[in-house]
Amino acid sequence: MSPTRGFAVAADAVDPLAHLKARFNLPTGPDGLPALYFAGHSLGAQPADASVEVGRVLDEWGHLGVKGYFSGTKPWVSYADDLSADLASLVGASANEVVLMNTLTVNLHLMLVSFYRPRNDRFKILIDEHAFPSDRYAIASHARFHGYDPREAIVEIKATGGEDTVKPEYVIETILSHGGQACLVLMSGVNYYTGQRYALSPVVRAAREVDCLVGFDLAHAVGNVPVNLNAADPDFAVWCTYKYLNGGPASPGAAFVNRRHFNDEAMPRFDGWWGHDIGTRFKMPDWFEPADGAKAWQLSNSPVLSSAPLRASMKIFKEADMHRVRRKSMALTAYLEAIIATYLSHRVDLITPSDPEQRGAQLSLRILSSARDAFDALTEVGVVADWREPDAIRVAPAPLYTSFDDVRRLAEAIGQAVGAPITWKDESPST
Ligand SMILES: Cc1ncc(COP(=O)(O)O)c(C=O)c1O
Repeated sequence: MSPTRGFAVAADAVDPLAHLKARFNLPTGPDGLPALYFAGHSLGAQPADASVEVGRVLDEWGHLGVKGYFSGTKPWVSYADDLSADLASLVGASANEVVLMNTLTVNLHLMLVSFYRPRNDRFKILIDEHAFPSDRYAIASHARFHGYDPREAIVEIKATGGEDTVKPEYVIETILSHGGQACLVLMSGVNYYTGQRYALSPVVRAAREVDCLVGFDLAHAVGNVPVNLNAADPDFAVWCTYKYLNGGPASPGAAFVNRRHFNDEAMPRFDGWWGHDIGTRFKMPDWFEPADGAKAWQLSNSPVLSSAPLRASMKIFKEADMHRVRRKSMALTAYLEAIIATYLSHRVDLITPSDPEQRGAQLSLRILSSARDAFDALTEVGVVADWREPDAIRVAPAPLYTSFDDVRRLAEAIGQAVGAPITWKDESPST
């Protein structure tokens, strides 16, 4: 990976996904041109056809009223079905193991009802350090609900030896060593703060070995790195669709429930009418008959308007193909890393692992002095990134709408912001 200006030009010229940038609306920067949008790990950019999909629902609501539930181009009663199936294929699961519903934290609570089943002295939950606070709040509240002290129940899998990220072998050791006391492992697919990606299969194998159930928060993994849930075989997973999946603000979340659990009648689950078997749901029976598979976990009728933009995004994903997305993503992130290592290492540290297999698109940067000022300077010149307390600037070159030249411009802006303007090795200082 050559940290030169010329590399960006050459890589963009042969990028098979370059044309997809035009299928997104990007925010405008202070110069009136599209901003340098590096916040796809937080909220993905808007697919240009999102308004078409939302408009279709609004039109049909206007023309059909309540009849839109059962007629129109995509009847609302089953509006989530093909989206759930698309998501299932993106995460390597069977269609009936994935359901689009609610939002991530709500889904995590529903999964914890089913999969956090502490018994006597096996009540601990293992979770990665820097897990998203909402996940911590959710597991703490379930521990409390079952009568345990969350401070005793939650065990963090922490980085050791002053490092920022956790060695994969240490994750496994920690799981194995807490076997007798833990009943659940909940890990990020990609950690939101450090950008570290955890391989799912070894975590699942270790959890199984010590008789723990295991779930993943894939908010920062889906649409970012390849995910194969059937191969990894966890018990459950949850994710949102507004980051790399570009579903729009507060678009619905999704849940994966391993088919192994479908017929487990002893498993607790909170029920609602939308989880009822569709064949008899509208006969309004008094007693609940679960729908097939993960759909049984649905509670309420599905949020059609807020799901509509995802339809536009999934079309782009299918066209792009996740393998090509990942290939470009690895190159974009490696290019940014190489520039930082070559020109800016005296001002910027990387929190994210430099092994490409242990990360997705995101790099978390630690600016070595005046970090907040550097972030504000980036914002002023039209870079959209984000700031995470206490000291990290997170940037993610999302491959569907980021070019190599965008990364080159981002790196130049970072150089300016940290007081170390870049002079490219392949240009003379005066050009
Ligand atoms: C890793 C992770 N988990 C959970 C959440 C919470 O998502 P929601 O607000 O959809 O519940 C987020 C939000 O950004 C997140 O990044």
